[in-house]
Amino acid sequence: MNAATTAPIRLRVNGAEALVLAPPQTRLTAALRDHLGLTGTKVGCDAGDCGACTVLIDGQQACACLVPLGQVEGAEIQTVEGLADDPQGAALQAAFLRHGAAQCGICTPGMLMAARDLLAREAEPDAAMVEAALGGVLCRCTGYLKIVEAVLDVGHATPAASAGAAVGSRLAKLDGPERLDGSAIFGADAAPVESLWLRAVRSPHAHARFGLGDLAAFVAARPGLVAVLTAADVPGENSFGIYPDIKDQPVFCDGLVRYRGDTVCALVGTQAAVAAVDHASLPITWDILPALADPIAALEGPAVQPRWADNVLAEGRVVAGDTPPPAAHTASGAWETGFVEHAYIEPEAGWAQRVEDGIEVTACTQAPVMDRDEVARVLGLPLDRVRIIPTACGGGFGGKLDVSVQPMLAVAAWVLRRPVRMIYTRGESMAASTKRHPSRITASAACDAEGRLTSFDFEGIYETGAYASWGPTVAGRVPVHAMGPYRVPYVRTRARAVFTHHPPAGAFRGFGVPQAAIAQEALWDELADRAGVDRLEFRVLNALRPGDTTASGQVLGPSVGLFDCLEALRPHWQAARASARHAGPLRRGVGIACMWYGIGNTGMSNPSTMRIELGPQGLLFRNGAVDIGQGSTTVLAQIAAEALGLPVCDFAQVIGDTALTPDAGKTSASRQTFVSGRAAMQAGLELRRKILLRANAGEGARLRLEGATLWVDATPLALVETLVGEGRFDPPTVPLDANGQGVPYATYGFAAQMVELDVDIQLGTVQLRRIVAAHDVGRAINPTLVEGQVHGGIAQGIGLALMEEFLPGRTENLHDYLIPSMGDVPPIETILVETPEPLGPYGAKGVGEPALVATAPAIFSAIRDATGVVVRRAPALPHRLLAALHGR
Ligand code: FES
Repeated sequence: MNAATTAPIRLRVNGAEALVLAPPQTRLTAALRDHLGLTGTKVGCDAGDCGACTVLIDGQQACACLVPLGQVEGAEIQTVEGLADDPQGAALQAAFLRHGAAQCGICTPGMLMAARDLLAREAEPDAAMVEAALGGVLCRCTGYLKIVEAVLDVGHATPAASAGAAVGSRLAKLDGPERLDGSAIFGADAAPVESLWLRAVRSPHAHARFGLGDLAAFVAARPGLVAVLTAADVPGENSFGIYPDIKDQPVFCDGLVRYRGDTVCALVGTQAAVAAVDHASLPITWDILPALADPIAALEGPAVQPRWADNVLAEGRVVAGDTPPPAAHTASGAWETGFVEHAYIEPEAGWAQRVEDGIEVTACTQAPVMDRDEVARVLGLPLDRVRIIPTACGGGFGGKLDVSVQPMLAVAAWVLRRPVRMIYTRGESMAASTKRHPSRITASAACDAEGRLTSFDFEGIYETGAYASWGPTVAGRVPVHAMGPYRVPYVRTRARAVFTHHPPAGAFRGFGVPQAAIAQEALWDELADRAGVDRLEFRVLNALRPGDTTASGQVLGPSVGLFDCLEALRPHWQAARASARHAGPLRRGVGIACMWYGIGNTGMSNPSTMRIELGPQGLLFRNGAVDIGQGSTTVLAQIAAEALGLPVCDFAQVIGDTALTPDAGKTSASRQTFVSGRAAMQAGLELRRKILLRANAGEGARLRLEGATLWVDATPLALVETLVGEGRFDPPTVPLDANGQGVPYATYGFAAQMVELDVDIQLGTVQLRRIVAAHDVGRAINPTLVEGQVHGGIAQGIGLALMEEFLPGRTENLHDYLIPSMGDVPPIETILVETPEPLGPYGAKGVGEPALVATAPAIFSAIRDATGVVVRRAPALPHRLLAALHGR
């Protein structure tokens, strides 16, 4: 059956009659999005797992992706676009905005609709009701707590910060409203109407040679199919990669695939035509080869890529101290962690089109300038003929730092001279994208009789999969961080990134540091017990302080707030310790862990440039920093506003477009608040200086913008020409030498987290009861957004500790691969510690990755406290914990 022979299906959508000319088996999501243009309803999985597509059908929430259009004939459908029309819906949106309940915003329509369903049934719900009603919608960003807060606050109206408030204010997200009404454009939400569709053909094998048959005949036999693009169609270099000297991943494989999910070729044509192709019908012949699936075996195995004969992509180390001081106690062990999937709710998507002699790629990304460079290389074009326009990004966490759809779309649009669009399926996103590096770690440590650390040894094998991606970054960052934020006189750390025939491991919130922290914090617990020192006091005793020298030989500045974080935890810790229970079937434990995290690239330049223009057109902030939900659009505007002396609400912004904004660098390494923030501050200050000079006014002059007139105190300044303030900041670092000595980062974030939990020793299950997180962020530019980062990072840390393990070919969906849902995140108390960083904008550092690092080790610390079991393998799934509990 096709649309031409189908009678239109009548329904009511947001109070109005709607006719959809589509077959009755069409998914309601497709009817809403493709036929009615209501793209506020999002598609995260197309399988009813994520809930992003939640709408109301006759007042009841349902996953629209599971509902055939024919089943809702005559029904009343409400989507996020209709929410503002009813007072309770509008109140919900306002509460979400006040509480910072939308970060990237891709889950937000689904959350809002589920909440609307609840409020229709229960005007004054409690937290348990909210959890029950919204529990079917997954959020990867927020940790859920602010969502619950927001729903409970509907009708109570906690006052919002004023629109003019700047640094330190709980200003509502500037890009929040479009995430709440469904109008934000994500990668899958738009494309030129005449676009062709692209669908990648991916390897079902981990390692194989392949040959392609007569593709021209294949295309000719299928109406609507326009081309099958292969390696031979790439106009420039058929490769991409993160590092300038490592471009090892092909756009289209050239006869050899190196992991399940590698790209073989691409079908391009009408949506129906590319969807209709059964991959098994393609003329591809396979010669399956043995695959390396274990990084230890890979060290002795055949080369995954000829350039690296020993399969070691990169190695980093830190060597400090000549001989270990005398020790009274030692501890050692081995740990293992698996692949972790980013599981952003928005699968990769975008479109590309030729514009005159150049190419424009519009897609979700964390790194538009890097994308531009890769696309230019692949097409063989100069940089100025490539433009990247970032869409709203529905979560990234490091996974959208690598290109995904961009090179394929660019090749297709360039070669075919037609706009082309692409949306990854959930399974494709999970199979093909980068992951957190699995790790195999051995480590040992020692302390003196009082508990002072004397030595630390660490050897980490980080599985980097089939292609380099960010493997060198992980190998470089881990050894610097592996001993944690502690004074250790003798250190030997080494990390190697090792190739296998698994999906490429790349950047994922923490760049390998969370894995290392699991081992290192477990050793501290053992040493503390052996030395007879309380675990928190052990950390206080050894914590880095201002002016200390790190194992890399860096003398720390004043912004080292770990001691303050631990002090802030102390009363919570002491109270919780009193409630620990070490007998019976349900054991209660309390755990603690600390972290540090270098902000920005490791010992390398990572500048950002920000520009602010004031002229007849008003105040324009050219902000190249892509906001992936963390809030840089708001935070950088707050900083710029503070520096300039005009309110945030006066600023218009252009964000991330490579043709319109200066290079702010990538959104990674927790760097945007610190690096781009400093650049924004300098831009604001420079513009202010120019204004004051022009007005011959003193430093304290007050500015006020009224149309095309700027008032400087009582003096009007007509804005007839454009004044520009530009700021550039590159954090001062010194590259590391062969022993890891140097200044790897200009500053560090610090934190201490405490976890209370119950372990059911008969089931092997863990129930988290409460987490207290104290974070030194330098200065909280926007405390609501900082708390949101802490909550979201902790939720991902919970996943790492207790449930998330990606297995190629087995967990390529969101029902076999579990991420924390609303019921999995316990109450979190966030304590913000402010030790201003002199280099930071108004003292700020960064918090994106620091939020996650301490959580898994703190959970394992609590499990050990409850049961005596040291978790050696993450995630601590029930069967593993049971085996450890019962010595199996
Ligand atoms: Fe929920 Fe990003 S805000 S997935």
